[in-house]
Amino acid sequence: MKLLMKVLVLSLLAIFANVQAEYVIKFSHVVAPKTPKGQAADLFAKLVNERLAGKVKVEVFPNSQLFNDNKVMEAIRMSSSTKTGIIAAPSLSKFVKFSRTIQAFDLPFLFNGIDDVHKLADSPVASDITKPLERKGLKALGFWDSGMKAFSIKAESALRKIPDDFKGKKFRIQTSNVHEAMIHALGGNPQKLPFKEVYTALGQGVVDGQENSWSNIYSKKFHEVQDWITVTNHAYLGYLLIVSNDFWNGLPSEIRIELEKIIKEVTIKNREFAAAADAADRQAIEKSGFAKVVELTEEERKTWVEATKQVEEKFAKQIGKNLLIKIHQTLGH
Ligand code: LMR
Repeated sequence: MKLLMKVLVLSLLAIFANVQAEYVIKFSHVVAPKTPKGQAADLFAKLVNERLAGKVKVEVFPNSQLFNDNKVMEAIRMSSSTKTGIIAAPSLSKFVKFSRTIQAFDLPFLFNGIDDVHKLADSPVASDITKPLERKGLKALGFWDSGMKAFSIKAESALRKIPDDFKGKKFRIQTSNVHEAMIHALGGNPQKLPFKEVYTALGQGVVDGQENSWSNIYSKKFHEVQDWITVTNHAYLGYLLIVSNDFWNGLPSEIRIELEKIIKEVTIKNREFAAAADAADRQAIEKSGFAKVVELTEEERKTWVEATKQVEEKFAKQIGKNLLIKIHQTLGH
């Protein structure tokens, strides 16, 4: 009898889970589920599926399963369905085609750590930065963290000296012109590659090194095909949660309000996931016996800052001089 009840309950649950919701949201991302973005996407799906059951159903597609890298932006802009929407959280470094102002987030040594990033992301200046996206049909829903970045390389020695340690070496970068200028300023050769191709490119020596957050390095095993990781915290890797304006505005307002509430909750959790991953994934890498982790000395760090100063000057006009002033005022330096 007990077994019969159990089978009945399980069948009912299965039927319930498959009930077609009025709206479907496909959440596409490129990283592993066990990263700050992956965890936040799964939590978003869980909360929406619980609280808006029958109205909205969220399905998550990690690891570039649905769209590779920047392709998702085009997919969001092209989608015309009012019932099925796409949400994504591409890295801020992948938006240059749609907004020059967002390039500010890529500037090397702009942020003195993750608290600085949050100061900016939580300030009114953040909406000045994302405003240009509206004209491109994209609605910005929030900023999510991955973390501050480290540099890794397959070489005799770790990346410390500028430009000597970068000379003649190729570095994978995202599709960011700021990153491109930064690698040149450091003395290396940048190569834009989709995230999905990084592990193979490192393993086969197509590129010598890369820059990324601890969770991305660990979850994609980059440390297994690299010799050194230098703790540089030179720039931020974070995301902008986006959806199509048309899909978003077409949702009933009570659904939009509930989704906004859930996003606020998930954004707080995402920062916790990122802080935890920073510590745990760095530790796991250090214990793994693959790449060795080294710190920059204060003196070395100064030379990195000095060498990359020109990048902000180079992009000041594109980002907007007034906007840059506001950003520095917000950060207090
Ligand atoms: C990368 O391409 O290195 C990152 O943007 C991947 C990600 O989404 O964290």
